[in-house]
Amino acid sequence: MKIRAGITAVGHYVPERILTNFDLEKMVDTNDEWIRSRTGIIERRICAADQATSDLAVEAARSVIQQSGLDVQTIDAIIVATVTPDHFFPSTGNIVQEKLGAHKAFSYDLAAACSGFLYALHMGMILIESGRHKKVIVIGADKMSSIVNYKDRNTCVLFGDAAGAVLLEPIDEADGGILDSMLFADGSGAEYLYMKAGGSKHPPTMETLANDWHFVYQDGKSVFKFAVQKMADVAEEILTRNGFSGKDLKMFIPHQANLRIIDAAVRRLKIDYDQVMINISRYGNTTAATIPLALSEAYQMKKLEKGDLVVFAAFGGGFTWGSSLLRWSLP
Ligand code: UT7
Repeated sequence: MKIRAGITAVGHYVPERILTNFDLEKMVDTNDEWIRSRTGIIERRICAADQATSDLAVEAARSVIQQSGLDVQTIDAIIVATVTPDHFFPSTGNIVQEKLGAHKAFSYDLAAACSGFLYALHMGMILIESGRHKKVIVIGADKMSSIVNYKDRNTCVLFGDAAGAVLLEPIDEADGGILDSMLFADGSGAEYLYMKAGGSKHPPTMETLANDWHFVYQDGKSVFKFAVQKMADVAEEILTRNGFSGKDLKMFIPHQANLRIIDAAVRRLKIDYDQVMINISRYGNTTAATIPLALSEAYQMKKLEKGDLVVFAAFGGGFTWGSSLLRWSLP
């Protein structure tokens, strides 16, 4: 019989400091009305100077551990989806492993930008389904403020810092779990959303620093066109190939990059807004963290019951995109 992977705990962490649209008005040539109407964002969270991505990830993982009563020595693997690792190496996963004291777990990072959590969830699902691993922590965490240029109005209004985490375990088919997962990539989109320097192609030099190549660059319009199309496509496809439609959905949990991209997916799926988890107004785009953060809030708000059909969908840098379909397995 096939082993099914299920989410058996979910948690999140956001830093305390709030950066509002009005704060940004004092930093760049922008205004609250533009940001709200073009993106749906009102405020975002920003890390303290001494907080790194691993600190966000550890807090999210701790809330999962607390919720499930998990003995950290039983954790088999920790996967951290991030584009803002503490260091190039060791992986942020290794740092999280040590901070949690999860000494029997192997750990690694996965870089798939805004689709990172869905990529990591897929890998965690496969580890569980293989039968070789029983407890996998999947984390989406990004300190976007570490790579955002707060002089560039095209990007600085969009991003925030956060982490979300889930525990994956083998569960009984009768209890639901992850029913399907789809991932895609199109490397021809690489230079529409990326950080130009810092890697082996353009190692840090005075020139890369002077050119601001260590910050996020985004051709917003081009990314928007792909995102609107692909996120709706993949959410629709995962439902139809499993014999479902929007009517069957309890909760659609999309990547939170832009409210207009979410609106397009809602129209395509023919669902109501009470079937969608939206928290972009409070956090902005937290890259790999958006989906586990929204899931964790939906769970805390008691919007999910055991057996509910849930779809995640994301689109991001790479380009990467994907979707997961699950039956919620927690009471
Ligand atoms: O999460 C990973 C994937 N990322 C995404 O999915 C993001 C996709 N892209 C977007 O969400 C949108 O393209 C943005 C929110 C980034 C931009 O919205 P837009 O409606 O595509 O605006 P635009 O880039 O076409 O800019 C329109 C105008 C421009 O001025 P002109 O050239 O028309 O005079 C911009 O310079 O708005 C200007 N603008 C701003 N004005 C005030 C750009 N940023 C700002 C700003 N405040 N912060």
